[in-house]
Amino acid sequence: MPIEPPIPLRDLMPALGNKLYFNYGGQGPLPTPSLAAISASFATIQELGPFSDNVWPYVNRTVSGLRQRLAAWFGVVPERVAFTENVTSGCVLPLWGLPWQAGDELLVSDAEHYGVVAALEELARRHRLRVTSLAVADLTGDADATAAAVGQRLEAALTPRTRLVVLSHLLWNTGQTMPIAAVAARLAGYPRHPWLLVDAAQSLGSLPVAEAAAAADIYACTGHKWCCGPEGLGAVAVSQRLLEASSPTLIGWRTLEHDGPGAGGGYHRDARRFEVATSCTPLFAGLDSSLQLLEAEGDADARLAAIRRRSSQLWEGLQQMPGIHTLLAVPPPAGLVSFTMADPKGAPLDPEAVVKQLGDRGTWLRTLESPRCLRACTHLVSTAEEVERLLTQLAELIQLSAG
Ligand SMILES: Cc1ncc(COP(=O)(O)O)c(C=O)c1O
Repeated sequence: MPIEPPIPLRDLMPALGNKLYFNYGGQGPLPTPSLAAISASFATIQELGPFSDNVWPYVNRTVSGLRQRLAAWFGVVPERVAFTENVTSGCVLPLWGLPWQAGDELLVSDAEHYGVVAALEELARRHRLRVTSLAVADLTGDADATAAAVGQRLEAALTPRTRLVVLSHLLWNTGQTMPIAAVAARLAGYPRHPWLLVDAAQSLGSLPVAEAAAAADIYACTGHKWCCGPEGLGAVAVSQRLLEASSPTLIGWRTLEHDGPGAGGGYHRDARRFEVATSCTPLFAGLDSSLQLLEAEGDADARLAAIRRRSSQLWEGLQQMPGIHTLLAVPPPAGLVSFTMADPKGAPLDPEAVVKQLGDRGTWLRTLESPRCLRACTHLVSTAEEVERLLTQLAELIQLSAG
């Protein structure tokens, strides 16, 4: 029997069949085999349970299998990986469990997501901490220049009271990558060894993450963006020293080392101390399927190279278009391409109106508030033709805006 060639990943994503899609940083398309894995998992749970001694081995296998796979991606032992619902809870749950003292300083980059910033501000209010800012949003050059600038600015911003540094691995607004392992190494040499919280919303599934995830104290991710898994399941890798210093934040039966009433209220010593209670096992099966599909596309470096081929094509095309200004001055280090648009007289085009006009043509990208701009993402399933069509549509909109 002849062996059938594998179906390209793109053809397994029905979401890509009827639109030009550039919102991978918002949510990735769910491949058909992952949706099938979710359905099959729901069916298995009904067949074996839903609540019975027969079902627990299946549930435990599914959860621990994904924990092991993610630990391998993170370059850490499975005991350092906790499951969460999304990126934000992966940031917040370990963070709120740390022993804060009034007057501690939280050094937060100026390119963090507003949801995480809101949680940090509330933490600061309750514990009387001080929030200070690390400027990184203006770093638009190449990786070496960026890493050098982050190092210098960090040095200038750290004070003896700094207790936490918050920095995304891949900035969601400019698309710039941050030198997380170097920052972690610098913090390790600093007298109070500040904690390092890394928002990895844009990095898991797009960048090689092992070095950064293993170096950070909190490396918080989601499955629903670049991993192309289902929404509602995230994971966080935490450091051993964080596990030793932190208490659980939300406590439930999954936080406990021994299940059952009266079993003794000890918490898991591993990262499961940040897990709470019932979650949706079929989502674990779905994310595991999506990660396997990505693994089949090549190793993390090869996948990033494929992402960058298309983001570079888009970035280069945008350089040729009068009226368009890319936030990055060099081809993007990953798949996020942010830019502003102006009409032929130089008046800025409203990003919301551009998204609407593109949406009317079946093309999807998004606006960002700070800085106010448009963002298009390319993934390894993006095609050269899609990128060309987006460029053509953007040129048409600029022409139309001339009236
Ligand atoms: C950098 C960053 N952090 C956090 C979030 C919030 O993600 P979640 O809803 O998974 O918590 C996003 C979502 O776009 C993001 O881009």
